[in-house]
This record gives sequence, structure tokens and C-alpha cells, in this order.
Amino acid sequence: MAKLIDGKKLAQITTDNLKSEIEDLKKKNVFPALAVIVVGENPASKIYVKNKHRIAESIGIKSIVKKLPDTTSEKELLNLINEYNDNSDINGILVQLPLPNQINEKKITEAIKPEKDVDGFHPINIGRLAMNDPLAIPCTPLGIMRMFNAYNIDLDGKNAVVVGRSNIVGKPMAALLLNANATVTITHSHTKNLAEITKQADILVVAIGQANFIKKADVKQSAVVIDVGMNRLDSGKLAGDVDKEVAEVAGYLTPVPKGVGPMTIAMLMEQTIELTKRSVGIE
Ligand SMILES: NC(=O)c1ccc[n+]([C@@H]2O[C@H](COP(=O)([O-])OP(=O)(O)OC[C@H]3O[C@@H](n4cnc5c(N)ncnc54)[C@H](OP(=O)(O)O)[C@@H]3O)[C@@H](O)[C@H]2O)c1
Repeated sequence: MAKLIDGKKLAQITTDNLKSEIEDLKKKNVFPALAVIVVGENPASKIYVKNKHRIAESIGIKSIVKKLPDTTSEKELLNLINEYNDNSDINGILVQLPLPNQINEKKITEAIKPEKDVDGFHPINIGRLAMNDPLAIPCTPLGIMRMFNAYNIDLDGKNAVVVGRSNIVGKPMAALLLNANATVTITHSHTKNLAEITKQADILVVAIGQANFIKKADVKQSAVVIDVGMNRLDSGKLAGDVDKEVAEVAGYLTPVPKGVGPMTIAMLMEQTIELTKRSVGIE
């Protein structure tokens, strides 16, 4: 049976450590602040933003949540981002996705100063990650790297397969694995014979958004399987992209919930602190 990777516990340890680091920063008159902008009434976005706010405040990060109506224009949102870019009291800016149709997501991502881009989605940050010289790194794949580290999972020379090629998970995950000297294959909806590829994986990261898609027969014995998926079933329950039966063959497996999700938020906090320190010249 696979060993479960406890993302919730690891996230708790991470935020506990950050809390004492923040106390030390405050003694030096450095007060980390994160601004989160949410546009419209997307129910999932509201829950994510609420959780981010709660955790930020609980560890001493000042959390500014700006809620804008569905009808907000692109120009209005850009103006607000510019205001936050110029405000030296704000260290991190995050715009919760998705955005309403009248707003161009790419333009918004590019408007956030790379030095305040806590999500790591700005093209400069993506480029720096690709060059193995990162500034801010997308939080979900960064959290997964922390899980490998915490469980002493060696990546060097391993066959890593990433299923899904989104800009926020799949692509940065592949870059991080490559930077850690894994041999990386990225797969997607056009990939032929997907199972033949996933079965070669020592490390398998699945981020496709399809409930229970990866089955036991798709996984190599003792593989490390990371399930990024968060799919709401008709029953209301949350399911990952990986079927629970995979636990019978995998060496390690992340549960859903309490796996990758909590680590994503913990990494958002960590990056807020890293960008804060950088902004005041603390290494
Ligand atoms: N736990 C967390 O913190 C967290 C964070 C982010 C996302 N998520 C979850 O992770 C999942 C993926 O999110 P995302 O934003 O990366 O999704 P996305 O933008 O919808 O991208 C999905 C990717 O999966 C690929 N794909 C879809 N069906 C496939 C199939 N049958 N075989 C192979 N590849 C397939 C797509 O291929 P094409 O490119 O060819 O279309 C695409 O690259 C979702 O469930 C999301 O809720 C969780």
C-alpha cells in the first residue's frame, strides 16, 4: 500500500515556521502584506480567497482582499493593479482566476510587477523558471517540490511524467522537475498511448481536471504519484484525477483533499515572505 503524503501536516509545519519568521521581520519594522483581487461571484474563487485571507492573517501577513463586481472593466482592474504595484506597503499581488470575459487574463498577468507576482505567472517569472534562475514560482508545483523534499524523494535521473500542460501547473511542474535533474515527459490531451508513458514514470504528476482518470493499470509499481486534481462530484464530494485504487501499486500517493491543495496556500504565504524580504534587501 502506498504511503500517503500528508500535505495538510506539511503545510501546517511550513506556516508555523513562517509565523516565527514574520515575528522576526516585524521586529525589524518589516510588515509583509498580500493583496488579493477577486472579480465577480465565482463560488470556488470566493472559497479560495477566504482561505488565503484566513491563513495569511493567522500567521501575521496583512491580507488585503479587494472584491470587485462582475461588471469591472479591464481598465479599472489594470488601474487597481498599478496602484498596488506602486504601493511600497504591498509586497505581493494576486488576481484570482478565472476572470469575467470582458477582461483579458494575459494582460492582467503581465500588468503585475514580477517582483510582486506571488503566483509566479508573469512571463518574466515563467522565463526565469525555465532558465533555472527563479524569482517567484507558481505555488502548486512549488508545493509539490516541497513534498518531494520533505519525504526524501530523490528526483535525480528519475523518469518523471507530467500529465497536463497548463501554464499554472503542468508546464512549471515540468520545469521544476527538469531543474532538479529528472528526465521529464509532458503529456496532454493529444498524447497517444498515454498509459504506456505513465507506466514508465518513477514520478507521476497528474493535473488534468478529470475525476479518477488515472487507474492502477496506468501506474508503475512503487511510483510516486502526485494528484493535483480537484473535481467536485455530483455527490458534492471532492475527487482527484487519480483513482484511489492506485494506492495498491504506488509507493507514495497524495490524498485529495489534504494533499496538494494545502501546500499551494502555504507556498503562497512563503512566497509573500520571500518577495517581502527581497524588497527590503534581506536574504
Ligand atoms: N490542488 C491545487 O492547489 C490545485 C491548483 C491548480 C489546479 N488544481 C486542479 O488541477 C486540475 C488541473 O488544473 P489546470 O488548471 O492545470 O487545468 P487546465 O488548465 O484545464 O489544463 C488541463 C490539462 O490537462 C490536459 N488533459 C485534459 N484531459 C486529458 C486527458 N484525457 N489526457 C491527458 N491530458 C489531458 C489538457 O490538455 P490540452 O492542453 O491538450 O488541452 C491540459 O493541458 C484541476 O482539477 C484543478 O482544479 C488544483
